[in-house]
Amino acid sequence: MANIVVVGTQWGDEGKGKVVDLLTAGVEFVVRFQGGNNAGHTLEVDDRQFIFHIIPSGILYEDKKCLIGNGLVVDPGVLLEEMEGLEKSGITVGPDRLSLSEKAHMIMPYHKALDLAREAAKGKDKIGTTGRGIGPCYEDKVTRTGVRAIDLTEPDVLEAKIRTNLKEKNFLLEKFLGVSPLEAQPILDHYLAMGQTLAPFITDVSVELDQAVKAGKAILFEGAQGTHLDIDHGTYPFVTSSNPVAGAACAGSGIGPKQIHHVVGIVKAYTTRVGAGPFMTELEDETGNFIQEKGKEFGATTGRRRRCGWLDLVVVGDSVRLNGLDSMAITKLDVLSGLETLKICVAYEIDGQMVHQRPASLGKTALCKPVYKEMPGWKEDITAARKKSDLPAAALDYLSVIEEITGIPASIISVGPGRNDTIVVKTPGS
Ligand code: GDP
Ligand code: IMO
Ligand code: MG
Repeated sequence: MANIVVVGTQWGDEGKGKVVDLLTAGVEFVVRFQGGNNAGHTLEVDDRQFIFHIIPSGILYEDKKCLIGNGLVVDPGVLLEEMEGLEKSGITVGPDRLSLSEKAHMIMPYHKALDLAREAAKGKDKIGTTGRGIGPCYEDKVTRTGVRAIDLTEPDVLEAKIRTNLKEKNFLLEKFLGVSPLEAQPILDHYLAMGQTLAPFITDVSVELDQAVKAGKAILFEGAQGTHLDIDHGTYPFVTSSNPVAGAACAGSGIGPKQIHHVVGIVKAYTTRVGAGPFMTELEDETGNFIQEKGKEFGATTGRRRRCGWLDLVVVGDSVRLNGLDSMAITKLDVLSGLETLKICVAYEIDGQMVHQRPASLGKTALCKPVYKEMPGWKEDITAARKKSDLPAAALDYLSVIEEITGIPASIISVGPGRNDTIVVKTPGS
C-alpha cells in the first residue's frame, strides 16, 4: 500500500480534514507532522460534525492508529479536551488508538501570553495569528529551551525548564510588552498533572512508523495549514511558524523520504485566507460575499470570517513545485454553482511583465495584477454528483483548465462537506 502525504496548496482550510478522513479508509496509520492547534480540520460524517485541532483526522475509524509527530507544537490542555470531547461522542481514545511523540514540543502558558501580547503591540501591522502560542513555542524549540512531551514525565527537568524560561519570558511580558507576569508553581503543577494523564500515550513515533513500514502497513501524513503559510516558502512574514510543505512530513514524523509514495495537494476551487497578508485574487465585492456565505467560510479555529477570492493558479503552481504533487483533490466545487462567470488567475502582471511565480518581495507582490481566464459558470446544484460525467460541461471545463495549467491530474473532486459527497477519479497512490 502507498504512503500518502496530504498538504494544503493555498493558505489553509482547503478541506484537508475531509480528504484525510476519506483516505483513512485505505491506510492503517494517520500521522500529523507539523503545526499545532492553530489548525482546524472539519469532518462531516453521518450528519455529525467534528473539528480537530491536534488529533489526526483519522481518529473516527476505530481500527486505525493516529500519531502526533515530533514536528508538532502541542498544547496538552487542548489535546486532553479533544480526547474528552471524543469520549463524550462515544469514541474511546486509548494509547492503542493515539500516540504522542516524546519529542513534540509543548505549548506553555507563556507562549500564548507572548503571542497575544505581541500581536496587540503590533496594532494594525499584526499578522492575525490564531493566538495559540504557535510562534513562541517554535521559537523555544529552535533556541533549544523548549519543553518536550517527555519532560512532562520528568518532574526535575520540567521544573528547571519552567523556572529558567519564566525569568526571560516574564521580563519580556512585564517590562517590554506591559502585561502581567506568570507564576511558575501553578504552571508546573498543572503540566505535571497533565503529564501523568498523557504518559501512556507518549512514545517514540519514529519507531512506531518504522515498525508499520516493515509490517507493510500504509501511512497517511496529514498536513496542516497550507503551502503559502510555510515559514520558508509562504508570504513571509504573514505565515505560520512551521513547514506545511510535504518535505516536512519526514522530519516532522521521523521517517525517511523513500517511504513517501504519493503527495496529494488539496486545492479549494477558489481561494480563502484568514488573518493578514497578501491575497492577489481577493474579492471585496458581492461575488466575494457570495462565496463566503455559500462556502460557510468562517475559521474552524477562531471563527473569523475568511477572506475570499478567485482561484489563483500561480499560488497552486508554486505548490505543485514546492510539494512535488502527484495529484490534486479539488474541493468545494459545489460552492461555485450559481455564478454567471468564473475567473481563474493564470499569471500576474508586474509593470507590464508576465510573472508565473509569486515573488518573494512583499513590495513586488503588492504590484502583482492577476491575469484572469474567464469562463462561463454553471447553475446546477452538483452536490449529488458521484462521477465526473454527472457534472455539467462548464464544471468539467473549469476542472480541465486547472489540470492543464498545473499539469497535475485531479484524483478527487469534492462536491460537499460529507464523506460521501465525493467523486473519486483515481484513488491516490493506487
Ligand atoms: P482544513 O483546515 O483544510 O481541514 O479545512 P477546514 O475544515 O478548516 O475548512 C473546510 C470547510 O469546508 C469545512 O467546513 C468542511 O466541512 C467544508 N468542506 C470540505 N469539502 C467541501 C466541499 O467539497 N464542499 C463544501 N460545500 N464544503 C466542504
Ligand atoms: P488549517 O490546518 C488557515 C494562519 C493564521 C495567521 C497565520 C499565523 O485549518 O488549514 P499562527 O497562529 O499559526 O501563528 O498564525 O497563519 N493560520 C491558518 N489559516 N488555516 C489554518 O490551519 C491556519 N493556521 C494558521 O490565521 O494568518
Ligand atoms: Mg482549517
